[in-house]
Amino acid sequence: MKKAAIALLFTLTLAIAGCGNKAEDADSSKKSADDKTGSESAANTENGEGPLADGVLNVGTNAEFPPFEFVGDDGEPDGFDMALIKAIGEKMGVEVTVENMEFDSLVASIGSKIDVAIAGMTITDERKNMVDFSDEYYEAVQYVIVPADSEIASAADLEGKNIGVQLGTTGDFIVEDIKDATAAQYNKAVDAVNDLRNGRVDAVIIDKNPAQVFGEQFKDEIKLFDGESAEFGFEKEYYAIALPKGDEELAKSVNDALAEIKADGTFDELVKQYIEN
Ligand code: ARG
Repeated sequence: MKKAAIALLFTLTLAIAGCGNKAEDADSSKKSADDKTGSESAANTENGEGPLADGVLNVGTNAEFPPFEFVGDDGEPDGFDMALIKAIGEKMGVEVTVENMEFDSLVASIGSKIDVAIAGMTITDERKNMVDFSDEYYEAVQYVIVPADSEIASAADLEGKNIGVQLGTTGDFIVEDIKDATAAQYNKAVDAVNDLRNGRVDAVIIDKNPAQVFGEQFKDEIKLFDGESAEFGFEKEYYAIALPKGDEELAKSVNDALAEIKADGTFDELVKQYIEN
């Protein structure tokens, strides 16, 4: 009796494992087929193909960038972008799952590990070679954070300095262009700021809103400069959702959902709740 039960359990386990494998195989063969057809293989949600065929939008982020994304008290990614993409998913009628990963891996993971990425990601020409972007949803600019007693007050003052950035971000790219400056690259923005407080870096270059969050958190120790000021002259940036290249149908449904969310007041509510609070 006991033996039979164990045997049954064993068979069941095999059957379940088998099912899992089959599903995975089917999935990966579909993916490579998609790869082959390239941009022609637009997400066709209606005939059951493409990223949304399973009814799930798998979203990548890097939850180290408050207020847009951070790890919440429950250990799950939270923040403006997370609320926004969930609202978009709801309008699109799909379930949203979130994968928290390194910022620098997001673009390359679109189309394989994740369907899309939302991560306070700035639209850049370089990224456009690899992914498409949704309509923009937020304006930003890089800020410069320095210790409260620092003499740094202009772009020229940054020359030859050791500057903390998040790896692969537009702040990182700005440091590449500063004469004799070294980029100290971090995966987590807060680690860069902590090294600034410890005196290991001279400045941190990071987007406006996260800079303001850290500025508030470490009020007495650090000060902020608006990179758009004449002293620094950084350019405006625009955040958008990164999408698989050539998938016009997915882009349209994301953009339609975003437009609806803007029109019905949800977007402004989320700004109030997460960014202007
Ligand atoms: N806006 C900058 C960029 O696109 C920084 C974004 C960092 N975002 C994050 N979730 N860590 O490069």
